[in-house]
Amino acid sequence: MTIKVYAIGGGQMVEAILRAALRNKVIEPSATTVTDISEQRVSFLHENYGIDAQTIIDEKKLSAAEIILLGVRPQDDWKALTAQIGATETAAQVISIIAGVTLAQLQAASNKKLAFTRIIPNTLTDTGYGYSGAALGEGAERELVTPFLESFGKVDFIPEEQIDIYTGYAVCGPNYVYNFYIALTNAGVLSGLSRKQANAIALENLKGAAKFLEMTGKHAYELLDVNNSAGGVGITAQHEIDASDFAAGVQNAVLAAVKRTTQLGKKG
Ligand SMILES: NC(=O)c1ccc[n+]([C@@H]2O[C@H](COP(=O)([O-])OP(=O)(O)OC[C@H]3O[C@@H](n4cnc5c(N)ncnc54)[C@H](OP(=O)(O)O)[C@@H]3O)[C@@H](O)[C@H]2O)c1
Repeated sequence: MTIKVYAIGGGQMVEAILRAALRNKVIEPSATTVTDISEQRVSFLHENYGIDAQTIIDEKKLSAAEIILLGVRPQDDWKALTAQIGATETAAQVISIIAGVTLAQLQAASNKKLAFTRIIPNTLTDTGYGYSGAALGEGAERELVTPFLESFGKVDFIPEEQIDIYTGYAVCGPNYVYNFYIALTNAGVLSGLSRKQANAIALENLKGAAKFLEMTGKHAYELLDVNNSAGGVGITAQHEIDASDFAAGVQNAVLAAVKRTTQLGKKG
């Protein structure tokens, strides 16, 4: 089954979403349209993905779309674009990725009752991993948006109040992992391994540990308990981690990211 999608704003995030949805064959180029104000961007998207891309909204195609993806930035004229969607005969599910713009603001700008879903999109779209957070507005239908949202990762339906937490914790999530990876690989090099060895081992351990957590369904404390035998090497390293501000550093970073998301939302 192919979903007819119309994206407004053809920037980095929309491209990443469409690339994954095309690869997973949930959408196809002939049933996908993008409007972006940049001529250069339109040519790029058409040439690279074979999708219909144009600088002016095609109202007929917009009305026929099953999913409308609102993908501009908060500083762009999203109010006018939302009003333009509201002026068509659309029955589409409208998915907004505009950071900080609430369901109530979208509904007010549309001048008509539209089925809005606000998401904070997954940024690991090319890997098949990662969660998007989705808050359904009035009239939005979960079964209709799910196949599209799952075409670029997993989806967690959440209350709108959790969107900022989702941004700081889930969508910024890979950043925390990259930082941990750097710290770990530097430790390997500091101990005397080559950079190549340290990188390869850390990556394998990250993937293996994640897989093991998933396979066993156990809490990480239980797995540590097995690895940290009495008076051994593991528990000695554990003592140093516990005595450091490692956990607080990660937790403070997440809390700061959530706070900053909320601040930016209020500004817009
Ligand atoms: N990138 C991420 O990792 C990420 C993650 C989560 C959420 N988001 C959210 O996703 C949204 C898009 O972010 P992005 O990083 O993809 O930004 P971006 O690359 O700048 O994309 C926005 C695109 O919309 C175009 N545009 C602006 N006004 C328009 C209009 N009136 N009609 C049609 N197109 C218009 C812009 O063109 P010009 O550049 O020519 O103005 C640009 O190509 C933002 O709200 C952002 O907060 C992004």
